[in-house]
Amino acid sequence: MTGFFSPPPLKGILSLLLVMLLLPAFPSFGATADLEQSVQPIQIPNPASDLWREVRQRDAAMTGSTQALGVDGGVLINPTGEKWRQFRMQQLLPYGGYALGAVVLILLLFYTLRGRVPIKAGMSDKKLFRYSVYERMIHWFMALIFLFLAFSGLILLFGRSLLLPLMGPALFSLLASASKEGHNLFGPLFALALVLIFFRFVRRNIYQKGDLTWLLRGGGVIGKKHVPSNFFNMGEKSLFWLLVFVGGAIAASGFFLLFPVFGQGRVVMELSHVVHGIGALLMLSVIIGHIYIGTIGMEGAIEGMKSGYCDLNWAREHHDWWAEKCEQRGEVLDRDQPISARGADALGTPSGQMSEEAGK
Ligand code: HEM
Repeated sequence: MTGFFSPPPLKGILSLLLVMLLLPAFPSFGATADLEQSVQPIQIPNPASDLWREVRQRDAAMTGSTQALGVDGGVLINPTGEKWRQFRMQQLLPYGGYALGAVVLILLLFYTLRGRVPIKAGMSDKKLFRYSVYERMIHWFMALIFLFLAFSGLILLFGRSLLLPLMGPALFSLLASASKEGHNLFGPLFALALVLIFFRFVRRNIYQKGDLTWLLRGGGVIGKKHVPSNFFNMGEKSLFWLLVFVGGAIAASGFFLLFPVFGQGRVVMELSHVVHGIGALLMLSVIIGHIYIGTIGMEGAIEGMKSGYCDLNWAREHHDWWAEKCEQRGEVLDRDQPISARGADALGTPSGQMSEEAGK
């Protein structure tokens, strides 16, 4: 009986299977894949892609008329965007990474070869007042903010190439978006810290006679002779001015990126990003050196920023002009002398006169 759906004949199925099994044995079968690859799609000229290719290759932004009122609303395509992208991926990322790596390597090498700079005369039982509570507070405020911004910024810059393969997309996207929000939120506090640091320390960072000698002798690293210095040496003064100018540029460009409401277009935003990135990497390289000297690099350096007082012998060996003046003014204290004994308030902030004197 032949119904509507009759089963296919067994003979037919067997012949089909046989053909399928034998097919790969024919040389022409393997060639079909190659043949497929070698067959080029028929080139149909596409006027739209030609148009976009030409637009992208223009040197300047192509503007037209539009009713959209936003900045850059009439810009059809911004060719500098591609230049900016290439700069970020091909220059900023690799060279920035090499620069930071080189700084760390140089410091490691220096530490291995020269070790910690000791207080040659050893720690004394005398101390000198160096930083008030306010000065230490603004310093550590700046340090915390800067380090947070540095870490979150580095995650945004290098995270995709270094962390994403290790963490996977779920965890990395969480970290990257938290870094972005944190960086944007705390960024303006860097500008505030900068202003506070500037007004408090500017007087003591004016360059003076003798600073150049300090620089030429590499702060005592070149040659064996002692290099005299005042409250701040040439290196510290240069760090201060670098912080003021480069830090100022980082803060200003950061504001441009964070608040696109000053009428800045895409090109200004791209330039701001370039200034922000280069400035931050430069500042970070210098700050790594600063942190090295302040911690493991030099015996006694951190004392002033920790307790407000530094060791007398440390001051004599690193800031001798200032130490001499303090000694002449009779400001040398016993190490265990309580702060209140020399007219400090409850917070440990020395009286106005002492605080003023400390900077001279
Ligand atoms: C863990 C991090 C840091 C440590 C251990 C550290 C340590 C020190 C120490 C020991 C001093 C006093 C040096 C002296 O008495 O001669 C100092 C001063 C200073 N630090 Fe830091 N610091 C750190 C982070 C930072 C950061 C992130 C910045 C700025 C971005 C900074 C900016 C300054 C400035 C401006 C001075 C005064 C020097 C001058 O005005 O020339 N510090 N730091």
